[in-house]
Amino acid sequence: MDAIKEGRAWLKDTLRDAVDSSATEQAKGVPMPPFEKEPVGLSLIQLPEVDFHTKEGPSLGEVLTQRASRRRFAQKPLTLYELAFLLKASAGAHQGRGTGWRFTPSAGNRHSEETLVAVLRVEGLPQGIYRYLAGRHCLDFQRSVPNLSEEVAVAARHQLFVARAGVVFFWTVVPHRTKWRYSGASAKVIALDLGHVCQNLYLACEYLGLGTCAIAAYDQKRSDDLLGVDGQEEFTAYLAPVGTL
Ligand SMILES: Cc1cc2nc3c(=O)[nH]c(=O)nc-3n(C[C@H](O)[C@H](O)[C@H](O)COP(=O)(O)O)c2cc1C
Repeated sequence: MDAIKEGRAWLKDTLRDAVDSSATEQAKGVPMPPFEKEPVGLSLIQLPEVDFHTKEGPSLGEVLTQRASRRRFAQKPLTLYELAFLLKASAGAHQGRGTGWRFTPSAGNRHSEETLVAVLRVEGLPQGIYRYLAGRHCLDFQRSVPNLSEEVAVAARHQLFVARAGVVFFWTVVPHRTKWRYSGASAKVIALDLGHVCQNLYLACEYLGLGTCAIAAYDQKRSDDLLGVDGQEEFTAYLAPVGTL
């Protein structure tokens, strides 16, 4: 099959017909994969609690109608509260419903996505790569990277505005979480799930007066290496720089 036909087939739900539902890992009784990674054990940064119920700020209508992709960022840093707000709004877990229940929908509630952030300019937070742990609402420090601003731009195929962000959201996927239930019909729903997460980030940015831009053009290996993920069981799928305006 050529790449165009393969791409069309991938977008259709006929893939599901090819799945033997009695032979999935779930049907065979394989234990459900965990919803999120364990901390790597370097340092955990507890994030401020976020209040989504304030009456201040723009209305939903304003947020929806003003949303746009923004690529011109000022150099003013984000606050830690703003970063906590964006992480919670896009990848946060519902308190009381358990870590697996998030603020975005997911096919079969599998949530193959992970959120890692490259912190460039956030008040009180050293530059580096962090993983968001939704269940604990904290950041798990992964690694320091020399020349991080340049590295994120290179990972984004030299889209230079990315280097001016305060923080770059990198969404990786752990496909096994979804494959456990949907086997060969997993890839499309994982991609759909990612769209919801990114849209929540757009809306939360608009609400806070920050800017973001979805990015699907990135260098797979440079990005995976930057994040420190293996490129097989976990790999980059989407990113979005966030900056002040
Ligand atoms: C899946 C996806 C991938 C995108 N990739 C890029 C990208 O690599 N670089 C970029 O500058 N914009 C990218 N964009 C932003 C689009 O160019 C933008 O959404 C589109 O021009 C419409 O503008 P608006 O978001 O302001 O409505 C992407 C958007 C989506 C949804």
